[in-house]
Amino acid sequence: MGEAVTGRIEGKVAIVTGGASGIGAGTARRFVAEGARVVVADLQEDAGKALVDELGEAARFVRTDVADEDDVAALVDYAAEEFGRLDVMFNNAGIIGAIGSIAKCRMSDVDRTFSVILRGTFLGTKHAARVMIPRRSGVILSTASPGGMHGGLGPHAYSAAKAGVIGLTRSVAAELRHHGIRVNAIAPGAVVSAMTADLVLNDPTDLARVTEALSAGGERPGMPEDIAAAALYLASDEAAFVTGSVHLIDGGITYASGPSAFARGDHEEPAGILEAGRRS
Ligand SMILES: NC(=O)c1ccc[n+]([C@@H]2O[C@H](COP(=O)([O-])OP(=O)(O)OC[C@H]3O[C@@H](n4cnc5c(N)ncnc54)[C@H](O)[C@@H]3O)[C@@H](O)[C@H]2O)c1
Repeated sequence: MGEAVTGRIEGKVAIVTGGASGIGAGTARRFVAEGARVVVADLQEDAGKALVDELGEAARFVRTDVADEDDVAALVDYAAEEFGRLDVMFNNAGIIGAIGSIAKCRMSDVDRTFSVILRGTFLGTKHAARVMIPRRSGVILSTASPGGMHGGLGPHAYSAAKAGVIGLTRSVAAELRHHGIRVNAIAPGAVVSAMTADLVLNDPTDLARVTEALSAGGERPGMPEDIAAAALYLASDEAAFVTGSVHLIDGGITYASGPSAFARGDHEEPAGILEAGRRS
């Protein structure tokens, strides 16, 4: 992996949702390398199980739909029982979701997008807080997006849901600071993952070609490890005074972006949904 093992989260227990792929998988790997025990939660069973097999005794997989409250409650209870407590909740699962012009979006696609991104983050935050408040300790992290901070950087439902994740982060941080719990969001920009490959190439498996595409202007592409490093910092005691904040980890792309296809509304015709490699 290349990173120095710093021991900054040695012995901590973390849940990473969307942990079977991309940013989540990169973070699960880094957290285990740093001495944490990690529950990988995802809809993708094969990929999730393969990852925890690779990571060994410090990792478990729980099949979870983050939009389902029973699933999320059971996930949090599992981590607390299996590993004794929950120190870090990383609400990272996401989909691009509803795509297309605002005039054409199908509301069932919009609802699913909100459910996975915003309801999923809400549920993860709620149930993590349930077990963290009595211990007066914990860190809640959520993956937002530059699309939740500015217009024209992502599809409408995705951007609205990610803005909701940012609002939720700030609101909950205000409550939980009185309980010794920190709540922060990370906004990654253009990171090589299945989601990006799906969006750019219509092929979630072609990570090599999406890496090339993201490097086309001679730029360094963002990698899951870059986001994992930010999550590691925020999860660690070094970030003890950091809460209620949004961390833009994007290689500068957000403020360098010109008018995009999203801003023109012509990024996808006809309107549809893009979820876990399925475009319909
Ligand atoms: N890659 C980027 O450039 C980028 C930029 C900004 C934000 N993000 C966000 O980063 C997060 C991770 O995305 P990624 O780029 O690693 O993509 P990814 O597709 O590789 O990983 C997303 C994971 O979430 C899982 N997932 C989807 N719906 C789920 C559900 N309902 N319940 C449980 N798991 C579910 C998927 O199965 C997948 O394993 C997402 O929230 C995404 O919106 C990514």
